Amino acid sequence: MKKSYQSLEVNLISNMKKVVHRKLGKNILSLGLIILLTLTTSLSAQDGDPAKGKSLFNANCAACHKLDKKMTGPALRNVEQRLSETEGLDRDWIYAWIKNSSGVIKSGDAYANKIYNEFGGAAMTAFPQFSNADIDNILAYTAEVKKEPAAAVAPVAASGAAQTGASSGISNEIILGALAVLFMLLAAGLFLVNKTLRRFAEAQNIDLPESTERTPLWKAFIKNQFLMFVVAIFFLLSSAYFVYGYLSQVGVDQGYEPVQPIHYSHRIHAGDNGIDCKYCHSSARVSKHSGIPSLNVCMNCHKSIYEVAPSTATEEYSKEFYDGEIQKLYKAVGWNDADQKYTGKTQPVKWVRIHNLPDFVYFNHSQHVSVAGVECQKCHGPVEEMEVMYQYSPLTMGWCIECHRSTNVKVKDNAYYDKIHEELSKKYGVENLTAAQMGGLECGKCHY
Ligand code: HEC
Ligand code: HEC
Ligand code: HEC
Ligand code: HEC
Ligand code: HEC
Ligand code: HEC
Repeated sequence: MKKSYQSLEVNLISNMKKVVHRKLGKNILSLGLIILLTLTTSLSAQDGDPAKGKSLFNANCAACHKLDKKMTGPALRNVEQRLSETEGLDRDWIYAWIKNSSGVIKSGDAYANKIYNEFGGAAMTAFPQFSNADIDNILAYTAEVKKEPAAAVAPVAASGAAQTGASSGISNEIILGALAVLFMLLAAGLFLVNKTLRRFAEAQNIDLPESTERTPLWKAFIKNQFLMFVVAIFFLLSSAYFVYGYLSQVGVDQGYEPVQPIHYSHRIHAGDNGIDCKYCHSSARVSKHSGIPSLNVCMNCHKSIYEVAPSTATEEYSKEFYDGEIQKLYKAVGWNDADQKYTGKTQPVKWVRIHNLPDFVYFNHSQHVSVAGVECQKCHGPVEEMEVMYQYSPLTMGWCIECHRSTNVKVKDNAYYDKIHEELSKKYGVENLTAAQMGGLECGKCHY
């Protein structure tokens, strides 16, 4: 009985802490990654701006090249290093090639002809409009360390997420500690009382029945009613505490991570392939709901993409995890890949909804994303690292309020706020107004 109670206790504690620990571990990890990343990129990008290079690359080269996968043209990760190490070609060769590859081929350049033949005589577009600086930027981008997801927002978001989780974890320890101290004090007090009484009895020459053979400890323990009483109270209090802790988790779905009907991965799409959230969740900016994209959006790309490159598969989510998933997509939209035609037979996919506020709460995405300029990741966590989507924040009232208290409203360049901001900041005597001071704590703003 006692044993099972203990294991129950251990389970409860570890469940409560698991959430917090996982997030903490991730944050420390991503902090380390950021530091490593900034160190390595600042070393490797001697010249050229990788950010500018990325947009040039995406706009001009991505149709035929990927960084880590052969497409119409070769994979271009670290192309400069590769060409100089294996072919002895320098940056000037690359300038010439990109500006006019057919010119280089015609000039009889050995490597140019070799690669041209290797790719079946496919001609690369000429980019005479590019300056050497443009190409430097592109090369800086291709020389970037393989992208680790940006986690700069994690610490902020974590303070929101940790708020409920961590506070139960911490107060857990405090209360347990306090109870233990109380218990020890009581025991010590009892011991002292016993000792003084004995001394008093000795002084009065009262004979105490000194037991010659010692009673076993557990018998003494059971006999001592006061001790039993204290122990009973202790267990009552602590179990009440755990029951309370368990109940306050009911309805909070933080960490909810259902398996979806198609193994869609945010890590592959928003992370590795850098697809903007709004490409798929386009209504987040303009409406109350973010919405899940229709499968036609998927088909924009997946008419031609149907296999995970080994580089995108990870140990935990192997290639097998994604095998056949595109077939499910084709089946759902009724796409016959062999004929490259729609059959007209569709089977809608039922995505499992993860984030869900109760009906009596009003939450509006555009208010937060467009007006307040809050990043998706602040509320949804490091989505671009998630292989399987999970609920990152608790979505409790306390969580909303906490952020409204601590976040300043962006009033700059927003004429709508000029007057009201002036009045309110005079009223509160502050420079920056928080969302709370703008009325973000009024019940009616969030509750119908
Ligand atoms: C229309 C398709 C196409 C576009 C667009 C394109 N390339 Fe290429 N690229 C190729 C092909 C195909 C090859 C292989 C050689 C050949 O067949 O001409 C190639 C080869 C290269 C090579 C030589 C790589 C090696 O490993 O030898 C570099 C460097 C290169 N491209 C850079 C770029 C850059 C930078 C851009 C964008 C500014 C770009 N390419 C745009 C098709 C393209
Ligand atoms: C290629 C399309 C695509 C892109 C890009 C994309 N998503 Fe999603 N997103 C989906 C699909 C499909 C689902 C539903 C399946 C799932 O939950 O994994 C989804 C689900 C979600 C959910 C959970 C919805 C729920 O049920 O509560 C959130 C939150 C989310 N995405 C946020 C983001 C953020 C933030 C980004 C950018 C970093 C992003 N998404 C980029 C397609 C996309
Ligand atoms: C903007 C282009 C784009 C869009 C839109 C897109 N994907 Fe992808 N998808 C990719 C790329 C790129 C890969 C990775 C392929 C690789 O690296 O081999 C991929 C991989 C996948 C995989 C794993 C692939 C496998 O071969 O087994 C699945 C499953 C998938 N996508 C589902 C979806 C679904 C569902 C949607 C719509 C919600 C969607 N994708 C929308 C570009 C896209
Ligand atoms: C201020 C916090 C916050 C920000 C910022 C935020 N979301 Fe949400 N998101 C939520 C909440 C809360 C819900 C649950 C809404 C509900 O149940 O009505 C949600 C739900 C969703 C859903 C599920 C579908 C829906 O609309 O209910 C998707 C998808 C989603 N968010 C994507 C995004 C994307 C993409 C961004 C960035 C452009 C973003 N979110 C920014 C808090 C946020
Ligand atoms: C990451 C921080 C953050 C979180 C989390 C957050 N909000 Fe907000 N919210 C803001 C900011 C900032 C504003 C001020 C926007 C503005 O008007 O400039 C705001 C404004 C609002 C407003 C409009 C208030 C007004 O004065 O008109 C409502 C309603 C609202 N939030 C509801 C919610 C609800 C419901 C939740 C929880 C599900 C939530 N918010 C969670 C940052 C947050
Ligand atoms: C910033 C938004 C916001 C404001 C302001 C706000 N609430 Fe809430 N409230 C919520 C959210 C979100 C929930 C749902 C929490 C959940 O599901 O765990 C909620 C839940 C509740 C509940 C139900 C509690 C439960 O556990 O189910 C009550 C009652 C409530 N709020 C009362 C109030 C009152 C009274 C005020 C004004 C003093 C207020 N709320 C102001 C966002 C808000």
